[in-house]
Amino acid sequence: MRIVITGAHGQFGQDIQTTLGTTHEIIALGRDDCDLEHSKAIECLTATNADVIVHPAAYTNVDGCARDPQRAYRVNTLGTKYVALACQQLGARLVYVSTNEVFDGHAERPYVEYDTAAPINSYGWSKWGGEQVVRELLQQFYIVRVAWLFGGERNFVCTVLRLIQERDEIAMVADEVGSPTYTVDAAAAIAQLIETPCYGTYHIVNDGACSRYEFARTIMEIAGAQTILQPMALQDYKRDSVVPSYTPLDNVAASALGIRLRPWQEAVRYYIEQLNMSL
Ligand SMILES: NC(=O)c1ccc[n+]([C@@H]2O[C@H](COP(=O)([O-])OP(=O)(O)OC[C@H]3O[C@@H](n4cnc5c(N)ncnc54)[C@H](OP(=O)(O)O)[C@@H]3O)[C@@H](O)[C@H]2O)c1
Repeated sequence: MRIVITGAHGQFGQDIQTTLGTTHEIIALGRDDCDLEHSKAIECLTATNADVIVHPAAYTNVDGCARDPQRAYRVNTLGTKYVALACQQLGARLVYVSTNEVFDGHAERPYVEYDTAAPINSYGWSKWGGEQVVRELLQQFYIVRVAWLFGGERNFVCTVLRLIQERDEIAMVADEVGSPTYTVDAAAAIAQLIETPCYGTYHIVNDGACSRYEFARTIMEIAGAQTILQPMALQDYKRDSVVPSYTPLDNVAASALGIRLRPWQEAVRYYIEQLNMSL
């Protein structure tokens, strides 16, 4: 298949590119090639003659989205509309990468695909808007919600690995809970998903859930760190955006198709081993 990837130089885009590139023809588009803040993006995408567009490009700075909700809307909702319109013109299928932050965090069990979305911040609203335009404009789409991504070289795991080199003591939020997800594993799941005609909404996260504090503790154990780790409360972590405190995702729909991801702890260990090997 001829597959276009938006945001191809981002954390997830790079691993989607590598994974799908082993079996498909890839056209990798960065912001310089196709800026989704402008309607010209439609032309640029239709010119590719793609069979599938995988669309992880987004304005992903959650605090930035709180400061500039218009930009969040322009990139994440309207930009996704341009991508969906291009798919409509091409008759192409769309994989739209969405987020755990479409949920409000008030659940008492991991969210399943058919739970009601209720975003509480501009980032979440803009990504939910993206989901809605995809549902309105297309029939052949996969909406893939991921969460707490790590891959590449700029993410929570890398931040913790850096902090334990620099400090004797660090503090991490103990009451924000989510599903850490390795970009390579999520990309492999997308590769499996697009081989099926089972269009719809999917949660694709590594198995299990943890708090930021537990996530950091696991990273520190794997790295053999002696640094002291203190718990802190989400409300004491001052930032421009509110964040949903409890958003683990349950991969019900993907599991039913036999698409399963390993436990997040195994994925973190593997990722850190890969990082160490590349040093
Ligand atoms: N990171 C997470 O923990 C997480 C969690 C849940 C869901 N997600 C979703 O997963 C997807 C990928 O996230 P990520 O971590 O890979 O993010 P990322 O590293 O920030 O990558 C996003 C990419 O989108 C591009 N982009 C931004 N504005 C654009 C525009 N106007 N036109 C075209 N491209 C534009 C960026 O290009 P520039 O670098 O040039 O700005 C960047 O390459 C996103 O859809 C995000 O909402 C991420």
